[in-house]
Amino acid sequence: MKRFEDVKLDEAQDLYFPTMCKVTQAKQITDMEKWYELEMPEGQDLGHSPGQFVEVSAFGIGEAPISISSAPHNNGRFELCIRQVGVLTNVLKKYEAGDSLGIRGPYGKGFPIEKLLGKDILIIAGGIGLVPLRSLINYVLDNRTDFGRLIILYGAKTPNELLFKEEIAEWIARDDVEFHVTVDQGDENWTGNTGVITTLIPGLDLNLNTTIAAITGPPIMYKFVIMSLKSKQLADDQIYVSLERRMKCGVGKCGHCQINGVYCCQEGPVFNYADIKPLEEAF
Ligand SMILES: Cc1cc2nc3c(=O)[nH]c(=O)nc-3n(C[C@H](O)[C@H](O)[C@H](O)COP(=O)(O)OP(=O)(O)OC[C@H]3O[C@@H](n4cnc5c(N)ncnc54)[C@H](O)[C@@H]3O)c2cc1C
Ligand code: FES
Repeated sequence: MKRFEDVKLDEAQDLYFPTMCKVTQAKQITDMEKWYELEMPEGQDLGHSPGQFVEVSAFGIGEAPISISSAPHNNGRFELCIRQVGVLTNVLKKYEAGDSLGIRGPYGKGFPIEKLLGKDILIIAGGIGLVPLRSLINYVLDNRTDFGRLIILYGAKTPNELLFKEEIAEWIARDDVEFHVTVDQGDENWTGNTGVITTLIPGLDLNLNTTIAAITGPPIMYKFVIMSLKSKQLADDQIYVSLERRMKCGVGKCGHCQINGVYCCQEGPVFNYADIKPLEEAF
């Protein structure tokens, strides 16, 4: 019998048929989150754009939508960061370098890079919301002269929950990145800002003509961050949000991710705020 891993990509016509990708590196980076580097078969590229997601599967357990955390590369590799919250994600915790995972995608609409070119990029990441925004941050850094200022606001509940600490240290060391971090509750070693992420917004000196904001975080965060940005006179169409809705198929077939008829898996997860604002259930 043909082994699943031996099925060629071009045979995988079925929408729901995952491609087996090899885990090349895996590392538990906080108590709850594990980072993975994966490799596509046959040197193929995933071909994603920042903000898109994949459906990740473990056989016999299930599938979950997970954001792609790395910037687009042409080396066939991509990165994920998965928080262990339930049945599937706790099984994925056991996967190490050398194991294979099922991947479908990339799916959804990411950040509209062509509209961001030449702009000041204001990243606002709450908690695990840094995972998809890291893809956009690294895209901007890989193409630094195509963009204006890169301002990153990142908030976590505690210092222990901060993701990608080594990479953050590199961003802080760069003079072309303005990085501001806060935690809801510090510890004995924390000397930085304490408070919710909106406490970082009033001190920002933004150029209203050129700034585009990209927000990802827990549902509660959006309303307050958007209110703060509005008080800075940022227009609705200068704000992009990535919305995580309960998704199943990822390809517009099951209806799980609908908000008043809008399919988040296809029309999102990244939306321009001006477009999604009229949908009452969105926030
Ligand atoms: C576009 C998108 C991108 C995402 N990106 C990432 C990412 O990069 N990293 C990441 O870690 N996660 C990401 N997620 C979230 C991730 O998909 C979920 O955490 C994952 O599906 C959980 O799967 P599980 O089987 O481990 O958890 P489950 O066993 O399904 O449980 C997860 C939690 O939800 C609760 N729950 C389960 N079913 C329901 C229900 N019907 N109603 C209410 N609560 C319920 C459980 O009690 C538990 O607390 C993303 C989600 C979306 C939609
Ligand atoms: S997840 Fe199935 S329709 Fe969007």
